[in-house]
Amino acid sequence: MEKRTGIKEIFSAPVNQTYTVMGWVRTFRNNMFIALNDGSTMDNLQVVIDGEKTDADIIRRITSGASIKATGQLIESQGKGQTVELLAETVEILGECDPETYPIQLKNRPSLEYLREIAHLRFRTNAFSAIFRVRHALAYGIHKFFNDRGFYYIHSPIITGSDAEGAGDMFQVTTLDIKNPPLDENGNINYKEDFFGKHTNLTVSGQLEAELAALALSKVYTFGPTFRAENSNTTRHLAEFWMIEPEVAFADLDDNMDLAEDMLKYLIKYVLDTCPEDIAYLEKRLLEEEKNKPQAERSEMSLTQKLHFCIEQPFERLTYTEAIDILKNSTPNKKGKFQFPIEGWGADLQSEHERYLVEKHFKKPVILTNYPKEIKAFYMRLDEDGRTVRAMDVLFPGIGEIIGGSQREERYDVLLQRMQEMNIPVDEMSWFLDTRKYGSVPHAGYGLGFERLVLFVTGMTNIRDVIPFPRFPGSAEF
Ligand code: 4AD
Ligand code: MG
Repeated sequence: MEKRTGIKEIFSAPVNQTYTVMGWVRTFRNNMFIALNDGSTMDNLQVVIDGEKTDADIIRRITSGASIKATGQLIESQGKGQTVELLAETVEILGECDPETYPIQLKNRPSLEYLREIAHLRFRTNAFSAIFRVRHALAYGIHKFFNDRGFYYIHSPIITGSDAEGAGDMFQVTTLDIKNPPLDENGNINYKEDFFGKHTNLTVSGQLEAELAALALSKVYTFGPTFRAENSNTTRHLAEFWMIEPEVAFADLDDNMDLAEDMLKYLIKYVLDTCPEDIAYLEKRLLEEEKNKPQAERSEMSLTQKLHFCIEQPFERLTYTEAIDILKNSTPNKKGKFQFPIEGWGADLQSEHERYLVEKHFKKPVILTNYPKEIKAFYMRLDEDGRTVRAMDVLFPGIGEIIGGSQREERYDVLLQRMQEMNIPVDEMSWFLDTRKYGSVPHAGYGLGFERLVLFVTGMTNIRDVIPFPRFPGSAEF
């Protein structure tokens, strides 16, 4: 195709020269002013049409959503609201857009729920193009953060035969005929005849494989899709989400917390530095959304204030046991306001408890450590007291748990015993135990839920709005 100048580029290009731009019409006013957007930036380029020179038929076809090509002089703008504008000498319609049927009518401010149903077109809105530019920046920033610190990016498998979290909420992968599967002597499905010769599923976490790599490359991370068939219809759960899982040899729980805190602060700052226009737009969007809420539910801080606040404050670090004390004596617990009242030590924390600690009690991000072993995974390092493990959860305002991780159990005997206690199939996991047999070292790692981070940074409220094509119970559209 003919060379075009991207709209982001044109805002810093020399004026009084001729350029060709291509993009989608956002709005068209007075048969003269086109606001043109090509997704490279939040800002629209004003393209000015000469009514005398332009064919009436072309003017008729310049409608919101249509794609066009325009060539003309870039001049300093005469009007307010933009620095430069393009005086079009020629305009060509690349693709028409019927205003009668086009579902994105900007005038009516389509709701987020409606846009989710037309996720194939929602990229065309300011909000979603901003969200997906920020999502990209975060992904890039993650690779940069780890690369700059000597970590190697490991691709963990997507199809696995192991259940990393012992959670049992997995999607099965099979090529067997589900109407007529082969059976063994006992009448059970014979997975030996399946594609891989065994029962397989989509991965719930790349951690176990990352551990194998860390025990040779020292510092590694994964960044890939993970899948959970849990039936959670919440604003913070997806059935398919992306996870970042660093794993570090010669590291303990304190090192792990330091890495997690540094990484989150780095990434928030990275977005503030690289996406100021998108964040400014999302901040404005959030303010407007909050106007419809009762005063008490509105947040005290704007989006950028909230982001800066997280960068500037040291995260509060405390043990699960200390947190239980705070929660037990908290006003909502005493007044019966928690859906799951805290009766004592051992209770699993729900999102309402996490959010109370972060939003009401400490008013800043919190890292909770040393959870009871019963409520955490088999691979976490057992504490000296024999009751707790070296787990850590990072809790964020409005989100709850954003990171889950731990120092790992590196002692062969202790790990074996924990696996047996928790009914982890030891035979199938000999490869994992091998790392503890041969040159084992203390090591630690965590998983950051990528969409929860995007949710926090964009100020959106539903996780389905920060991944292009969300998968959740009952829905796998597009
Ligand atoms: O706490 P989780 O389950 O931890 C693990 O999977 C460990 N293997 C990680 C590790 O130590 N390497 O999940 C980690 C994070 C959570 O803190 C949350 O942010 C996110 O993944 N997450 C989800 N995000 C969206 N939808 C879901 N259904 C999620 N489940 C977990
Ligand atoms: Mg967790």
